[in-house]
Amino acid sequence: MFWKNRLNGDMKLFLVFSTLLPLVSSQDMPYEHFLKQLQGCPKECRCPPSFPRVVYCDNRNLKQIPEIPPYTWYLYLQNNQIEALSEQALRNATELRWLNLNHNKITDQGMEEGALKALSSLIHLQMEENLLTTIPSPLPTSLEQLRLSRNKISKIPPGVFSGMDHLALLDLQGNKLGDEAVTEQNLKGLGGLVQVNLAKNNLKTMPLGLPASTIQLYLDSNDIDSIPPEYFKDLPKMAFLRLNFNKLGNGGLPKNIFNISSILDLQLSHNQLTEVPLFPLSLEHLHLDHNKIKSVNGTEICPVPIGTIDESVNECRPRLSYLRLDGNEIKPPISRDLMVCFRLLRAIVI
Ligand SMILES: *[C@@H]1O[C@H](CO)[C@@H](O)[C@H](O)[C@H]1NC(C)=O
Ligand SMILES: *[C@@H]1O[C@H](CO)[C@@H](O)[C@H](O)[C@H]1NC(C)=O
Ligand SMILES: *[C@@H]1O[C@H](CO)[C@@H](O)[C@H](O)[C@H]1NC(C)=O
Repeated sequence: MFWKNRLNGDMKLFLVFSTLLPLVSSQDMPYEHFLKQLQGCPKECRCPPSFPRVVYCDNRNLKQIPEIPPYTWYLYLQNNQIEALSEQALRNATELRWLNLNHNKITDQGMEEGALKALSSLIHLQMEENLLTTIPSPLPTSLEQLRLSRNKISKIPPGVFSGMDHLALLDLQGNKLGDEAVTEQNLKGLGGLVQVNLAKNNLKTMPLGLPASTIQLYLDSNDIDSIPPEYFKDLPKMAFLRLNFNKLGNGGLPKNIFNISSILDLQLSHNQLTEVPLFPLSLEHLHLDHNKIKSVNGTEICPVPIGTIDESVNECRPRLSYLRLDGNEIKPPISRDLMVCFRLLRAIVI
């Protein structure tokens, strides 16, 4: 379970939150609300009396959303044939915190103007695998997680994220976003973003305008062939960077581009690198498998002068513990200097 160890405090918290189950029992609710809630339960859905704030309407072949009772916090509507998010159906459910509409048939036209905006307590919105071509708007500014993967989104309307300071997670993987869609102008307002996933889109360059709060950036499976100099200067918290399955060669990488003092995990598998890029002391996991690297010189990639390692205190030693180099053109033996420099290396895959 090596992935567990590599998570720092922030990320651990994040995982715990996203797996937290909504356990809100009937005791937290005035009796008359409890009654109203159960009486209002749509016949197509299930509202367990022990958790009256949860309404399950998933996997029922629904074509439209039934009218949702007023004290619902968690609403599950995934895996149906729903084509529209209607204002009418959600008009009483103004306390909604968590809405799952994954795997339906919702189109841009089906997003009724005020339906989302009225949900002023909404924290999680999941609309993965629908038919959207643009980010729905307006969005409630209370949102902390927005998951829109596997739609057909090619546009981010300017201003759509304005005032969305609480949004920590934005998942847009598996869409049709090109470079012109991900700009400073379009991302404006995301002051609290921590995790952004833009994997499996049509990006040729690095996305612009990400906020300084970004810790985790996933860009796997795009067509990115270079990184502009100073790109990470305005991303001082960047710790998890994934660029697997792109077109990066050493020609497209400024020499010290990954000298990012906060970085913990760097993944550059399945690119066209011919040399190991330089990286800082802080890096713990490096994925460079399936590139075109012919040799590794431990002296050259050591983040500190290799002769000083023996005398240095632990905090000044490189923290690399996992290195993948398989699928390259490297012939054994492994450079002895690699071991001299990286004392914490627990696994090296060649
Ligand atoms: C929604 O509110 C209206 C107006 O207050 C009410 O007539 C209706 O019964 C409510 N629906 C549900 C499902 O509670
Ligand atoms: C990497 O960045 C640090 C400061 O963040 C700097 O002191 C160091 O010289 C840089 N290393 C290289 C090789 O540029
Ligand atoms: C590794 O790099 C250092 C410094 O550039 C050089 O002196 C040394 O000969 C290289 N080692 C090998 C095995 O090529």
